[in-house]
Amino acid sequence: MPISERGTPTFDGFRLVPGRLDRTEQEALRDAIRAVAAEAPLYRPSMPRTGKPFSVRMTNCGSLGWVSDQSGYRYQPAHPLTGRPWPEIPEILLVLWRELADYPHPPEACLVNFYDPEARMGLHQDSDEAEFAAPVLSVSLGDSCLFRVGGTNRRDPTRSVRLASGDVLLLGGPSRLAFHGVDRIYPGTSKLLPQGGRINLTLRRVTKPE
Ligand code: SIN
Ligand code: MN
Repeated sequence: MPISERGTPTFDGFRLVPGRLDRTEQEALRDAIRAVAAEAPLYRPSMPRTGKPFSVRMTNCGSLGWVSDQSGYRYQPAHPLTGRPWPEIPEILLVLWRELADYPHPPEACLVNFYDPEARMGLHQDSDEAEFAAPVLSVSLGDSCLFRVGGTNRRDPTRSVRLASGDVLLLGGPSRLAFHGVDRIYPGTSKLLPQGGRINLTLRRVTKPE
């Protein structure tokens, strides 16, 4: 696997665009996500079967949102607690998708993950979508994290990349189903979120276009 100047792995379909959003754009996106969370509050999902709570709090925007509870993982058009449709995806994210996704249809879901300093996300694949021709486009805001990415088998070797506020990451092509997760947050590495923590936004196409 070749290593780019910032020590990041660059392999088929895995693309890191460091610092794609400048501070002003990050602030605009932060404010847009605050507005999303005011309408569709962050909540703590639980794991299928065990019901164990996630350490990450979540909400969504878009016509579909990803949810998890004891009956499983799925996409649905409404917030599980309020019953209201998810808010629209902010335009700044749709612009990033058009610029970077190399896919001719819009995203349908944007999962909003909020990590406090203790939160983690275990190694997993994004595989609940019907359409894998579109990449998963991920935007980081706030504190940096240690992101881990491997191959399409859980036991494949993994590499770790530090993601900072304003970075955009794409998992597409052969990397679309790569296992990935977040090992840790680095508290105090950004002033974007006054209370600290990290926001991650992942844009996904869920259904196959007609
Ligand atoms: C995710 O896999 O849903 C989130 C990844 C991240 O927080 O960077
Ligand atoms: Mn994921």
